[in-house]
Amino acid sequence: MTISLTRIDPAAERDALVSFMTANAFPFHVNARPTAEQVEELIAAGAYRDEDNDSYWIEHETHGRIGFFRYEDLTDMAPLFDLRLAESARGLGLAADILRVATDRIFRLMPEVNRFEGQTREDNVPMRRVFERCGWVQEAYYREGWPVDGAEPLASVAYSILRRDWQSGTATPISWEIPASS
Ligand SMILES: CC(C)(COP(=O)(O)OP(=O)(O)OC[C@H]1O[C@@H](n2cnc3c(N)ncnc32)[C@H](O)[C@@H]1OP(=O)(O)O)[C@@H](O)C(=O)NCCC(=O)NCCS
Repeated sequence: MTISLTRIDPAAERDALVSFMTANAFPFHVNARPTAEQVEELIAAGAYRDEDNDSYWIEHETHGRIGFFRYEDLTDMAPLFDLRLAESARGLGLAADILRVATDRIFRLMPEVNRFEGQTREDNVPMRRVFERCGWVQEAYYREGWPVDGAEPLASVAYSILRRDWQSGTATPISWEIPASS
């Protein structure tokens, strides 16, 4: 596998975290350009590592350190994630392998987790394509659910993968039918 995840120690790697988060723009995140002060506040608040959050550098065999991955809501049965590639590593077709590695990891290490979830903005086409390529199923479309600075809110879209689908390599479809009353 060309992708590996290296656990981040936020206190010891404070400068590297601040540098990564401020050197790249994240146009589909609510805060597209975090400041150094904001990242430092997040580190101090445990947003990169506490009982709910665990963060990793994404390392690529030839490209080196290409991004950041955080598991979120780890005390929940259905954790979420945040995936951020460096601008220089975007558009190279790397994200699907990253999501597969991160999915394998959480289902292997946390037997109690049955669903792994992700949310993104409706116009984040690359991320939505990656979800589809990895067999994740779109479960929700939250209209006007994503605030946008200085513009109208956009929709938030939610995807997930079930442990049993990960095991079998299938994607259980959703039935939107209302069951007939008995
Ligand atoms: C979103 C992100 C993780 C996607 O990773 P990536 O490695 O750049 O994506 P890929 O190069 O694999 O592209 C994925 C797909 O989107 C398509 N795509 C890429 N840029 C596109 C664009 N601007 N418009 C339309 N399609 C695009 C690619 O052709 C590819 O399609 P395919 O699956 O049919 O081949 C990465 O761009 C990123 O880190 N962005 C900033 C942070 C972010 O938005 N994270 C998501 C938070 S959940």
